[in-house]
Amino acid sequence: MSITILGIESSCDETSAAVVKDGFVLSNHIANQVIHEKYGGVVPELASRAHQQNIVPVVDLALRDSGVTLDSISAIAFTRGPGLLGALLVGTSFAKGLALSLGVPIIDINHLQAHILVHFIKSNDVDCHMPQFPLLCLLVSGGHTQLVLMEDYLKMKIIGQTIDDAAGEAFDKCAKIMGLGYPGGPVVDRLAQEGNPSAFKFAKPRIDNLDFSFSGLKTSFLYFLRDRLKEDDNFIDKHRADLCASLQKTIIDILIDKTSKAIRQTEVKGLAIAGGVSANSGLRNAVDVLANDLNINVYKPPISLTTDNAAMVAIAGYYKFLNNDFASHDLPPLARMPF
Ligand code: KG4
Ligand code: ZN
Repeated sequence: MSITILGIESSCDETSAAVVKDGFVLSNHIANQVIHEKYGGVVPELASRAHQQNIVPVVDLALRDSGVTLDSISAIAFTRGPGLLGALLVGTSFAKGLALSLGVPIIDINHLQAHILVHFIKSNDVDCHMPQFPLLCLLVSGGHTQLVLMEDYLKMKIIGQTIDDAAGEAFDKCAKIMGLGYPGGPVVDRLAQEGNPSAFKFAKPRIDNLDFSFSGLKTSFLYFLRDRLKEDDNFIDKHRADLCASLQKTIIDILIDKTSKAIRQTEVKGLAIAGGVSANSGLRNAVDVLANDLNINVYKPPISLTTDNAAMVAIAGYYKFLNNDFASHDLPPLARMPF
């Protein structure tokens, strides 16, 4: 019997639906919400309304593109959390309503676990190898920065995490200070490629364990620019590429330092990266160098699966389906959700 999962993602500002059959992605549609750009960040209420408008057309597109009809769906997987509560409510309610009408089970998905499970999407590509367990995953998104030790598909343990801002927030907040658009991460990445990463030095945290901190960097960046702007109004315009390159290098150094420590401590033979910031070209190069130095395997998701998407939710649903792990209809979405 084949297993066909419809996945639904609505945790932040992307409305997405995907169909995964027996672990292979048949379709994955994402509606981005451009409305937030003019506010310089996601406005929760506007996100909920946009999800409400997008969800039916996006699910319809995903189904049509996959060639799968509703009567062959085995279960519906949805992001239960963490995320914006109003946004999560849209996907959760939609999944429950559709599942009730079809008489199929629902599967609740942790958004962060889903980001990691993109590495376990099946592929017919002979060069594509799935990671072996135990696996260390550096999860770097807009709201989270975590080192996750995986023993199995759904057996994950956080061994280090940020005590304040996430890496994505550091990119976005510093980009905002420089007057770059939202989200700032991709813009910083692009500008950094023409800059000198050693041009400026910013504060790095001193934390002994595997936890991260990025709020000191943001403050150091802010004060540095405030002082330079007093001397020269055009400082940012003149040094934009060098600022981006130096900022990006500092963020990557902080990430790589802890990841390297975690690999040595856990003695894993594989490292994966996931989440929106795993699209960063500097980070992708840095993990290659690290894996080469430590003689371990490295896994980087395709760029299209780094930021929020429903293929990751559907694949997580597939592995939970195999475990007979279904949700009850009275389960509420959770803005904060532990692993
Ligand atoms: O995983 P994601 O789509 O959403 C959350 O679950 O939070 O991650 C979004 C984050 C944003 O902070 C965005 O600036 C960052 O990923 N991001 C990047 C890049 N592409 C997206 N950061 C650095 N370099 C990039 N190329
Ligand atoms: Zn995400």
